[in-house]
Amino acid sequence: MNELRIFTPATIANISCGFDVLGLALDTVGDEMTIRKVKKKGIRITKITGQNIPTETHKNVAGVAALALLSEIECDFGFEIEINKKIKPGSGIGSSAASSAGVVWAINELLHKPFNTIDLVRFAMEGERLATGVAHADNVAPALFGGFTLVRSYEPLDIISIHTPNELYATIIHPQIEVKTADARNILKTTVSLKDAIKQWGNVGGLISGLYTEDYDLIGRSLEDHIVEPIRSILIPAFNLVKQQSLLAGALGCGISGSGPSIFALSKGKKTALKVAKSMKLVYDEIAIDYDIHVSKVNKQGIKIL
Ligand code: HSE
Repeated sequence: MNELRIFTPATIANISCGFDVLGLALDTVGDEMTIRKVKKKGIRITKITGQNIPTETHKNVAGVAALALLSEIECDFGFEIEINKKIKPGSGIGSSAASSAGVVWAINELLHKPFNTIDLVRFAMEGERLATGVAHADNVAPALFGGFTLVRSYEPLDIISIHTPNELYATIIHPQIEVKTADARNILKTTVSLKDAIKQWGNVGGLISGLYTEDYDLIGRSLEDHIVEPIRSILIPAFNLVKQQSLLAGALGCGISGSGPSIFALSKGKKTALKVAKSMKLVYDEIAIDYDIHVSKVNKQGIKIL
């Protein structure tokens, strides 16, 4: 096997209460990539379609992640990367993470799996460092593990796969503006009050417990963010109205996807998730904001071979 064609998923990071630690993988939105083993040593990006992003290996998140992997193994051959970029950069659903995670996963397969999934997260995080200035793992971890993931610790890196209830669907609306993750991080405060921290870790515990026990009401009650959402939501058109209408349509909870501007809602069942999509669309249609919208089951598998 010298070539792999893969689907690498979009992801929702933070999931309201878990800034930089919680994430989930999506099923119907993601990039397609082809990774080819070639005689010439090194990493080359030979084709990018869909978006206008750099093809130079050192300037491309997939290139940088692949180089991080190759720096830890002797190879007398190299790899070519083709990316069909379907996730828009700056959308808040893990565009850079999908490419970074996809390439290291595929190279590891082509090398007959010398690395474990935590190693792959570590390499993919170098792509995130290039994209945002911070090597956060809450998008690359769910892309690589599938389902819900928790980054229990960054140093040392400790990632937990969390049980994913079967009926959980995500609705994501992406207003057509770009919010750079680096900018959305720069506006955050660097300290939190004990009062807010208490609410936040109560919700993180509640969400994890709700996922394991498939208690959808508890999942909904725990989808609250007292620290980041109040600050970042000002960057997103009609955020409060979209959230209010999603909850009225039956969503369990609603918040900012990653660093935004996408807004996500989680629902029990596809029917409700579609109803939530309709209510989100109505808000943006009314105020004439262009958008993309996705409804997706939570993807338990993560990256897939096509
Ligand atoms: N946890 C990161 C942030 C995710 O919110 O900045 C970026 O997609």
